[in-house]
Amino acid sequence: MLSIIVALLVNLLIETSVSFSVVVPGDPVVAHVGSTVILPCWINPPENAEALEIRWYRKEFSNTFLHYKPGKVPDMPVEPYRNRTSLTPRSDQSGGLKDGDVSLRLEKLRVQDEGSFRCYVSGESSYDSEEVDLKVTALGSTPVLFLKFLDDGRVNISCKSSGWHPKPSVTWMSDERRVLHPGGVFYSREAHEMFSVHSWTAVSRSDAQLVSCSLSLKTGELKDGRMDIQGIVSSDSSGPWKALFFTLFIFALLGFGLVGFFLYKCRPGKKPDKEIVGDVNIEEPRKHAVEITVDREHLHPDLMVTKNCKIMRDGPGYDHTGEGFPYELCAFGAQRFTSGRHYWEVKLTQENTPPKNYWLIGVVKHGNFTVRDRSALTPSSGYWFLCSDGPNGFHTNTDPPVKLSLTPRPERLGVLLDYEEGQLSFYNIKESKHLLTISTRFSGTVVPLFNPGAGDQSPLIILDCTKPVKSAEESSQPLLSNNSSNA
Ligand SMILES: *[C@@H]1O[C@H](CO)[C@@H](O)[C@H](O)[C@H]1NC(C)=O
Ligand SMILES: *[C@@H]1O[C@H](CO)[C@@H](O)[C@H](O)[C@H]1NC(C)=O
Repeated sequence: MLSIIVALLVNLLIETSVSFSVVVPGDPVVAHVGSTVILPCWINPPENAEALEIRWYRKEFSNTFLHYKPGKVPDMPVEPYRNRTSLTPRSDQSGGLKDGDVSLRLEKLRVQDEGSFRCYVSGESSYDSEEVDLKVTALGSTPVLFLKFLDDGRVNISCKSSGWHPKPSVTWMSDERRVLHPGGVFYSREAHEMFSVHSWTAVSRSDAQLVSCSLSLKTGELKDGRMDIQGIVSSDSSGPWKALFFTLFIFALLGFGLVGFFLYKCRPGKKPDKEIVGDVNIEEPRKHAVEITVDREHLHPDLMVTKNCKIMRDGPGYDHTGEGFPYELCAFGAQRFTSGRHYWEVKLTQENTPPKNYWLIGVVKHGNFTVRDRSALTPSSGYWFLCSDGPNGFHTNTDPPVKLSLTPRPERLGVLLDYEEGQLSFYNIKESKHLLTISTRFSGTVVPLFNPGAGDQSPLIILDCTKPVKSAEESSQPLLSNNSSNA
């Protein structure tokens, strides 16, 4: 009897002397969709883990996706982890497997990876396992703000964004001070377990100037859209506001972990312009940059266009004695669009000259010609544009027109055509602002539309745009990595 107890004790002693426990961080690891993350796991006291069996699995032991066994060629990890996982030191200070560090590196993170991962280590006489919790986040698109006038004189502003995980929270503010109550917040599920969000609020125009909608994750990251509701004038405030939505003065702010490292150039001829870096809002449409030239065949005879089909102005012979904007002085882009998203930029100033007072920029149904008569230039007849008419300000040709006060005058304008969504968006590049979106329905072939007006010093210049190039680090770097204490 005594000998049995002694034997047991000895056994126990031997076992404890070689046993270890598996250690993982107490907090979940948080990382972005698409990034690479390390799930830390190590044994204590440290010992060389090369001689141990290591498994990583989700729920069931039998579904081990990464299996290391001494003297055995490791199995190819099973789907969906194939080519995405490996054992890796948890930090630069770690000696890796030799020091008992069995951390898992997981690449190209998906929302489906969210949840717990079990780290299992087994030796000759002891084994242990622990779970690491992984949270996957996705920062959605820059919110787009839409505005509608209500019958009671207030405005209904709605805010839309997609590509979030998990659901973002919505905060409405007026003039950066007062929190506004949302009229509603709606989430919908998109593909790949992402969420889109739509919220609206109603404010009276005497109450607020700048209204902002900010969407945030618990990690503190956020995206933000703003609208200056004083800058908007309904020309037809008595009549019903038709289904015209537009967005104004929107820019994006990332709480931290700025994503936008785009190398990008838009240049007029040989002289390079200052690059605009850091505003995600402008870089997003620029992904759809296309080269635009003017179609020389269908040019108004009173327009002069340079040989490269990029720079245009009113000719010396043009007699602009009539009243109003010279709508007929139009040039059409040689590029035709029947689908997709296309972006181009136009320069409205030259060195040492003030920005142009007169211009018209937009798209037109292919085959249309412009006429002097403004009333013929409607969306239903295939014209969509923003026009700068000198002292008369800026207006769209929608019904009713949207009139805008834009100060300072845009020096460089970006145009994004989204054919399927039926949206034509305008951006002030220098100010990094989204100015306005015309919502419509395109049909048939549309082409870019330009009109340099008459009497300005500066010509209208179509810029050479090349698509942005993503820097290599951007896609592979985890924005939030392990061990980060999250707010
Ligand atoms: C994994 O990598 C191997 C070799 O690099 C390749 O042949 C295979 O197609 C990849 N599998 C997947 C699912 O990407
Ligand atoms: C405001 O607009 C949203 C659509 O964006 C709509 O769902 C909501 O009912 C509108 N609110 C009012 C008070 O009209």
